[in-house]
Amino acid sequence: MKNISSKIAGLIVFAIVLLSITACGGDEQKAADFSKTKSVANDPNAGLSQFELENGIGPVKQKLELGPIDPKLVKKGEEIFNTKCIACHKLDERYVGPAQRDVIKRRTPEFIMNTMLNPLEMQEKHPVVKKLLAEYMTQMTNQNLSFDDARAILEYFREIGK
Ligand code: HEC
Repeated sequence: MKNISSKIAGLIVFAIVLLSITACGGDEQKAADFSKTKSVANDPNAGLSQFELENGIGPVKQKLELGPIDPKLVKKGEEIFNTKCIACHKLDERYVGPAQRDVIKRRTPEFIMNTMLNPLEMQEKHPVVKKLLAEYMTQMTNQNLSFDDARAILEYFREIGK
């Protein structure tokens, strides 16, 4: 009798351990989904939707449909980047702002668009950008890009970050 109940107890302990391992695995998975924005999920005053945490705040409010990379748009984006962004951003080194070659790997395309089109509100409200501000101690200024200009720069980033 004693033998059976200790076996049962052993089984229960085993089940609990198993359950807690799977539960942890789930949490890790969720954390990994946030990794692109390096979301500060426990920032109490973030108050942003899941979409905003991953994709930023601004005119882009849903996922963009990006087709294959368009070389004409890449060219246009490169020209605008070299006029309006190069004063603060290099491709491979930290400068006034972060290096941009890998930005497409760090952030979602929508996050990049919203940063270009709405930098001030992003600085004010988005936990990722607040962190960048603290790190770079300079504000990205609004470059008054049109949506199409920003889309062209995004295409350039997609190309150089491949
Ligand atoms: C006055 C300097 C300045 C100019 C001009 C500027 N930026 Fe920035 N940028 C920054 C700084 C500083 C940050 C980090 C802090 C912040 O977001 O304000 C930043 C952040 C960013 C980010 C955030 C994501 C990341 O991880 O790098 C993107 C994307 C970006 N800039 C793209 C651009 C593009 C594209 C242009 C040109 C249209 C541009 N910037 C012009 C200074 C600048």
